[in-house]
Amino acid sequence: MCGLFIVFEGPEGAGKSTQIGYLKRSFETTGQAPLTTREPGGTPASDAIRTVLLDPKLVISPLSEFLLYAASRAQHVTDIIIPALKEGKTVISDRFTGASVAYQGYGRGLDLGFVNDLNTRVSQGVTPDLTILLDLEPLRGLERVDQRGGKDRLEQADLAFHQRVRSGFLKQAEANPSWVVLNAELPEDDLAREIWYIVSERLLGRSKMTDASERSS
Ligand SMILES: Nc1ncnc2c1ncn2[C@@H]1O[C@H](COP(=O)(O)OP(=O)(O)OP(=O)(O)O)[C@@H](O)[C@H]1O
Ligand SMILES: [Mg+2]
Repeated sequence: MCGLFIVFEGPEGAGKSTQIGYLKRSFETTGQAPLTTREPGGTPASDAIRTVLLDPKLVISPLSEFLLYAASRAQHVTDIIIPALKEGKTVISDRFTGASVAYQGYGRGLDLGFVNDLNTRVSQGVTPDLTILLDLEPLRGLERVDQRGGKDRLEQADLAFHQRVRSGFLKQAEANPSWVVLNAELPEDDLAREIWYIVSERLLGRSKMTDASERSS
């Protein structure tokens, strides 16, 4: 597989969708058209699983929740991510395996060995070249989501849960050199410039950077 695989992780409201939009446009300035996708979802079956996962009326145990995420991810990897990477496309995913480690492992308390093992199975050899963690203090993220309106089941969980999730994300970043942690409270265009700089430096080589997207600092 020769395409690049870039993943955004972080809590609700961290700015993942916003930054994926910026990064997609930055790639487009170089003539590339990356595939953007999201978890859970990305395929009709995975989107159907997403509807179940995010329905606040359903009571789902931590184990079932993880298995649903894993099922959605398996389909997404098979149908979307692997074919695109094989074609040489850059794939940018809103969440991947790290989200299950943080939410279902650290957050809900499932055994981390089990979460990692099933993640490895369902990702079928696909590992991100770069994971960008948009780190945000949980209350700030929840405030942003409140302002946007509408809450799903995860967003109604308590603050302690979100603090465990945050620390689960940070631990993965510490342990894995392909992760980068950025402060999600920075202005969105500063973050976008920083992310494009990191992508260009680490994955594309400096020559691919366009003047318009060059780092200002
Ligand atoms: N750097 C930033 N500073 C301040 N506000 C931001 C920043 N980035 C995004 N926002 C705002 O925060 C809100 C959440 O942003 P966004 O939808 O991109 O987050 P998300 O991580 O994709 O959330 P979710 O996990 O719920 O999909 C939006 O209202 C957005 O305009
Ligand atoms: Mg989003």
